[in-house]
Amino acid sequence: MNWKTVCSKSQVHAEYPFAAKLAGKEIGIFLVDGDYYAIEDVCPHAYALLSQGFVEDGKVECPLHEAVFDIRSGRCLREPGGRDLSTYPLRVQGDDIQVDASRIEAGLEEVA
Ligand code: FES
Repeated sequence: MNWKTVCSKSQVHAEYPFAAKLAGKEIGIFLVDGDYYAIEDVCPHAYALLSQGFVEDGKVECPLHEAVFDIRSGRCLREPGGRDLSTYPLRVQGDDIQVDASRIEAGLEEVA
């Protein structure tokens, strides 16, 4: 694991996720029922940030064409999302939110 601090807890709200950068990749930090989750932030369908989407009941709706994804699992629940999202291990250290960057840094994920 290669933990990187991406934001603080106070920057993440249930209705307003945080748009973070992790080793050059856009990652959305979401808060669902008191737990934090890190998922790919760029919608696989076209370019839109899911952290700017509509969040409800553990799901996020893309602001552009309304694909829906499960925040906990990354699963695409409604097209035109095209595929599931990558999810990333996350931990809370004090007020810091840290996400594991090892997959991205190993070149296993595209970066912008
Ligand atoms: S960009 Fe997200 S559904 Fe089209």
